[in-house]
Amino acid sequence: MKIGIIVNSKSGHTLQAAEVLKQKLAARGLDVRLERVSAYDESPMDKGSVKLKSAPDISGYDTLVVCAWVMGGTLCPAMNTYLSGNNNLSGKTAVCMITHAFPFKSWGGTQTLNQTERLLESKGALVKGGGIVNWMGFGRKSRIDSVAEWTAGLI
Ligand SMILES: Cc1cc2nc3c(=O)[nH]c(=O)nc-3n(C[C@H](O)[C@H](O)[C@H](O)COP(=O)(O)O)c2cc1C
Repeated sequence: MKIGIIVNSKSGHTLQAAEVLKQKLAARGLDVRLERVSAYDESPMDKGSVKLKSAPDISGYDTLVVCAWVMGGTLCPAMNTYLSGNNNLSGKTAVCMITHAFPFKSWGGTQTLNQTERLLESKGALVKGGGIVNWMGFGRKSRIDSVAEWTAGLI
């Protein structure tokens, strides 16, 4: 089983969490690679005007781990554009890991996780769930660790 961790990260939080998840999967002996989605402008005023700088080919992966962040209560524009352009994810399983600023999942994280899951399903992926990292507040390191552990366990 080939696992692709597909990450969009503007300021590095999501990448940091994705690296922890990658280590956990690699430690289980799984074949895992991390690839970056990026845009020339990661937070454009007009979310519909994203120009992707890097858009990895995910056709060779059996399982996708989509790692993204919340912008304005919704999925970050680069990942939204990227996933929207991937028309055939049938036969793949997917899990998600979302980071956001606020200390409660319900303040944007849950909504964005649901949005990402529905988008993946609309492209044919079998979605197995996902985790949310609340970035603000004490104990972040252990939150990242437990969300990465939870997300890895969904695969
Ligand atoms: C333009 C912008 C809008 C944001 N909007 C939200 C938001 O609506 N809710 C939230 O919880 N965090 C919001 N954030 C915070 C990011 O989601 C959070 O810091 C995330 O971990 C950033 O991930 P990254 O470092 O991988 O880019 C916003 C950040 C930016 C730059």
